[in-house]
Amino acid sequence: MLDGHLLLGWLSITSLILLIGGPGPCAAYFGLTGNEPLSILPLSLQPEEGAGKAHYKLCDRLKLEKKQRRMCRRDPGVAETLMEAISMSALECQYQFRFERWNCTLEGRYRANLLKRGFKETAFLYAISSAGLTHAMAKACSAGRMERCTCDEAPDLENRKAWQWGGCGDNLKYSHKFVKEFLGKRSYKDLRARVDMQNTNVGMRVIRAGVETTCKCHGVSGSCTVQTCWRQLLPFHEIGKQLKQRYESSVKVVSSTNEATGEGEIAQARGQQPLPGPSEPIPRTMDLYHIEDSPSFCRPSKYSPGTAARKCYKDKNCDAICCGRGHNTQSRVVTRPCQCQVRWCCYVECKQCTQREEVYTCKG
Ligand SMILES: *[C@@H]1O[C@H](CO)[C@@H](O)[C@H](O)[C@H]1NC(C)=O
Repeated sequence: MLDGHLLLGWLSITSLILLIGGPGPCAAYFGLTGNEPLSILPLSLQPEEGAGKAHYKLCDRLKLEKKQRRMCRRDPGVAETLMEAISMSALECQYQFRFERWNCTLEGRYRANLLKRGFKETAFLYAISSAGLTHAMAKACSAGRMERCTCDEAPDLENRKAWQWGGCGDNLKYSHKFVKEFLGKRSYKDLRARVDMQNTNVGMRVIRAGVETTCKCHGVSGSCTVQTCWRQLLPFHEIGKQLKQRYESSVKVVSSTNEATGEGEIAQARGQQPLPGPSEPIPRTMDLYHIEDSPSFCRPSKYSPGTAARKCYKDKNCDAICCGRGHNTQSRVVTRPCQCQVRWCCYVECKQCTQREEVYTCKG
C-alpha cells in the first residue's frame, strides 16, 4: 500500500484532474462514466461566494441529471463528496493501471469512446466510480461533512453483549441508499445496460464486503473489560486492488434466453475457460462483465494514446508495454538524500548522494 508520502507525490503529479460527468445517451451518470470532457475544478468554493447556497453553483458545474442535481442541492455536503469521489476513483484507476498498456488515460475523448464500448476497461471504470462514490459518501457521513447523515448507528450485531457500540462508524447504510437513488433505476432493456448495471453494482458490493469492525479496549490498565466497537470501510486502495483483480478475471457475456421463463438473461460467452471455484452459476454476482475483447492499446487509437514514449520498468513490463517495439534507455544523474541519521534532538541529517539512473521508455 502507498504510504502518505508517496500518495501525496502521486496526487501532485496528477494535479487533481477532475472528471465531471453529465447527461449522455449511453452513460448518463457521474464521475468517470460521464461523457463530458475533463474539467478542472477547484476542490472547494471560494469563501466570498457566500454561505448558504454556495454549493448550488458547484452542483450546477458538475453537470448532473435533474434528479441528481436535486439531490446535490439538498445537502451542501454532496457536491464536495461527489468531487472527492471522482478524483479518488480516477487516481486509484491510474494507480492500479500504472504498469499496464492502458494506464487509465481519461482525457475526454478516450474516456467517452471507452465508455461507449463493452471492454473490460469499461467494466472497471463503472465499478471504480460507483465504489468511489459509495466509499466517499460513507466517510463523509462519519466525518460530519453531511447534514443528512452522521455515524453508522446500526448495532445489529450478534455480539452485542460483549461489546458496546460507540466510536463513529462509516455510514454504509446511508451511503448505499444514496448511491442507489443517485444513480437511479437504469433500464434493463439491452445487454449493454445490464452489463453496466452489473459492473456498477459490483463496485458497491465490494465496498460492502470490505467492512471491518474495529474495537478499542477500555478498563483498568488495558484489561479490556469493556470494548467499544465501530465499523470501518477498507482503505480505498484495497478496494482498487480488489477491483483490479476482478477486472483481470472479468467474464465475457452474451445475452441469452432462459428456456424456462422465456426471459432475457446474461450468460457466459462460449469458448471461455470455466472459472475455478464452487459451481455457482456463471457469471456470478461479484464478477465484472464485459461484452467484447479489448483493443491492444499499443498504438494511438480512439481509446488511448498508445504506448510510444511510455516509461517502463526493465525486466518487469517493458516487453509487454512496448508491444515488441523495444525500448530506449536513457541515463541520467540524480541527486537524492541518503545515509540519513537522526540527530539529538530532533532532526534528520542526510548526505546528498549522486547516482546514475537508467530510464526506459517505449520506442515509437
Ligand atoms: C499514460 O501514458 C501516457 C503515454 O502513453 C502518458 O502520456 C500519460 O501521462 C500516462 N498517464 C498516467 C496517468 O500515468
